[in-house]
Amino acid sequence: MRQRVAVARALAMQPDVLLMDEPLSALDALTRANVATEIEAIWAAERRTVVLVTNDVDEALVLADRILCLNPDGTLGAAFKVDLPRPRDRGEMNDDPAFKTLRADVTAYLMDVGIKGKVEGARLLPAVTPRHALPRAYAQAAKGFTDDRYLQFSQLHKVYATPKGPLTVVKDFNLTLKKGEFVSLIGHSGCGKSTVLTMAAGLNEISKGAIKLDGLHVEGADPERAVVFQSPSLFPWLTARENVAIGVDRVYPRATQAERQDVVEYYLERVGLADAMHKPAAELSNGMKQRVGIARAFALSPKLLLLDEPFGMLDSLTRWELQEVLMEVWSRTVTAICVTHDVDEAILLADRVVMMTNGPEATIGRITEVRLPRPRTRRALLDHPDYWHYRAEVLGFLAEYEHGHSKKDAA
Ligand SMILES: Nc1ncnc2c1ncn2[C@@H]1O[C@H](COP(=O)(O)OP(=O)(O)OP(=O)(O)O)[C@@H](O)[C@H]1O
Ligand SMILES: [Mg+2]
Repeated sequence: MRQRVAVARALAMQPDVLLMDEPLSALDALTRANVATEIEAIWAAERRTVVLVTNDVDEALVLADRILCLNPDGTLGAAFKVDLPRPRDRGEMNDDPAFKTLRADVTAYLMDVGIKGKVEGARLLPAVTPRHALPRAYAQAAKGFTDDRYLQFSQLHKVYATPKGPLTVVKDFNLTLKKGEFVSLIGHSGCGKSTVLTMAAGLNEISKGAIKLDGLHVEGADPERAVVFQSPSLFPWLTARENVAIGVDRVYPRATQAERQDVVEYYLERVGLADAMHKPAAELSNGMKQRVGIARAFALSPKLLLLDEPFGMLDSLTRWELQEVLMEVWSRTVTAICVTHDVDEAILLADRVVMMTNGPEATIGRITEVRLPRPRTRRALLDHPDYWHYRAEVLGFLAEYEHGHSKKDAA
């Protein structure tokens, strides 16, 4: 709402030229889409000349007559004419071949100038076993059973106490994940995604129902469940290496000091920080800090990896790069749930996209199984015909719940 006020204020001064520097980047992806549509409507009515700086290709495609790319060295790069009919509706555009081609072209151009293949280093992971993976008698017996139902949410409820009395935020959430599966969790702001995730992490009490991981109830925080939040919480005075090492020392009781160090450095190399691992966290960029957060989570060899909008604070080029880093490191070695607002991210990463209805009493509204080949790259996806079909499905669900409850529910 504050950002809407800022846009209204700028327009009320009737300027000849309106200059906007990432006006929407502090908003979540869905709010961003709404405000962008509003800006387009105002622009259409007022016909001001506008220069908009953005790192979001879709935002540029919704708003602009022309897109000019800046190269990383500051020189002017490719220019694209955006000849799409207005008003531009994201859902309708998704079916427009001209939009698809243009989106792929701009994205490919930006990736070419901005992103180099980033996986460095040739270190091998030592054969060490984390504490939580040491064999348990019962687990051997129940092996086949638990791998198919590795993580189970059953009739999960969350009730928060509020001044107005108990509020049921999440109601009857049921989901089963296979071992090594990757699930994206998407839904409107405030529906309860973080609530579900923190319950799975053991950081938030379960009100009713149960979460079972590898046959055991989730109770309290444990390094077998690693969490990556939107802003990485690193100790600023410790180096990247030391920040990752803190957890690792606890987790591998039978490993030698040298083996533990290898685990730490192996994952820092995998996320592209081979050259920066001795820098204090305070000197790292946001993107680098988030890489440390990912390395730290993987270095714990967790059974379950929980990510809550891990790339939400990053610009879209860094985000694309880290999505590919994440997929590369994940490679089915861990079961993962990623909360995101970003439809493309949700599809790119996941085996299934789980869509939540709006709260209160939010639950699972729809599940889309993403049968795209792996390993996936953003570039290959943009060329894959099914990708647009998945995208329409998720966008459609979110649009349905855009204004409070589902239009279908109301009918
Ligand atoms: N400790 C709490 N006490 C009371 N209500 C809470 C508490 N934590 C969260 N809520 C409420 O629960 C609902 C779900 O919150 P949650 O943070 O899980 O949403 P979310 O889907 O992660 O949202 P966002 O996309 O904005 O991160 C919200 O209405 C929020 O106000
Ligand atoms: Mg949240």
